[in-house]
Amino acid sequence: MKIKASTSCAAVIGHPIEHSLSPILHNTIYRTLGLDIVYMAFDVSDDNLERAVEGLAALNFLGFNVTIPYKERIIRLLDRIDPIAAGIGAVNTVKVEKGQLIGYNTDGLGFLDSLKVNNIEWHQRSILIIGAGGSARAIGISLVEQEPKKIHILNRSMERAKQLAKDINEFAGYNLSSVVRDIPDNIDIIVNTTPLGMWPKTNQSPLDGYNFNPQTIVCDIVYNPYKTYLLKQAEERGCTTVKGIGMLIGQGVQAIEIWTGQEIHHSIIKSLYNEIHISLAK
Ligand SMILES: NC(=O)c1ccc[n+]([C@@H]2O[C@H](COP(=O)([O-])OP(=O)(O)OC[C@H]3O[C@@H](n4cnc5c(N)ncnc54)[C@H](OP(=O)(O)O)[C@@H]3O)[C@@H](O)[C@H]2O)c1
Repeated sequence: MKIKASTSCAAVIGHPIEHSLSPILHNTIYRTLGLDIVYMAFDVSDDNLERAVEGLAALNFLGFNVTIPYKERIIRLLDRIDPIAAGIGAVNTVKVEKGQLIGYNTDGLGFLDSLKVNNIEWHQRSILIIGAGGSARAIGISLVEQEPKKIHILNRSMERAKQLAKDINEFAGYNLSSVVRDIPDNIDIIVNTTPLGMWPKTNQSPLDGYNFNPQTIVCDIVYNPYKTYLLKQAEERGCTTVKGIGMLIGQGVQAIEIWTGQEIHHSIIKSLYNEIHISLAK
């Protein structure tokens, strides 16, 4: 791309940052959509967080993403925070608007985008989330908006699962979520949020030996490999599956929509899948 005086800037801040996929992801999306934006990654040390954030605002960045270890700490540096990010308790996207900093969390919304792109609805459906870490929190809280029938949480550590179910219920304002020790019957959508199956241990699956119902939709947020062992197992049983790359693209697209105010159509997002997959694999 040609960088001009009018080119807008966006960035990700975190520490460490050199393995972040966000610059490839964002710059590929900008190029594909013809947006005059450039995206950089900045390694910000703990004692520089405040000054770095002030600098990005002073330089009129469109916005910036925030990653480990600052997703919680950033909150006190912001002017406002959106209700979903407040419910999750973490911010991964900041919009700079007339010098004000507004915090959002697009992780869960990105996952929802991957469902929408695949024409999957979750209203009044029973959902099982495997895992109760950062992504499970983002997904669990974001799912509330379209009133699923039930959100079951299955996690290795019971305490963390209980806390997440409690937080989802508080956010929803009714008893929507509960902890399970095994996979309940009649689950419509299963979402793996654990790293099981992630490269290099690609022969692992959180549901080894499970007898998949072909009607169940199986989603894995692990995106490396592109098709995980869990998704292969589910497809062998005839299940519809949703790959983790969809959430990765979705959270980036959500951030771009927040920063630019432009809606990016689902047909365009779908056409990005191959392009991003190829760019990330290089
Ligand atoms: N597609 C995307 O855009 C996207 C976005 C974010 C993350 N991810 C992927 O999602 C995965 C989780 O990320 P995260 O940030 O949510 O991690 P996290 O906060 O560390 O949470 C990990 C969760 O997985 C569970 N877990 C970890 N190892 C396990 C094992 N060996 N057996 C059973 N359960 C295990 C943990 O259980 P305990 O609570 O018992 O420790 C915890 O609930 C990673 O693979 C990451 O790459 C993908």
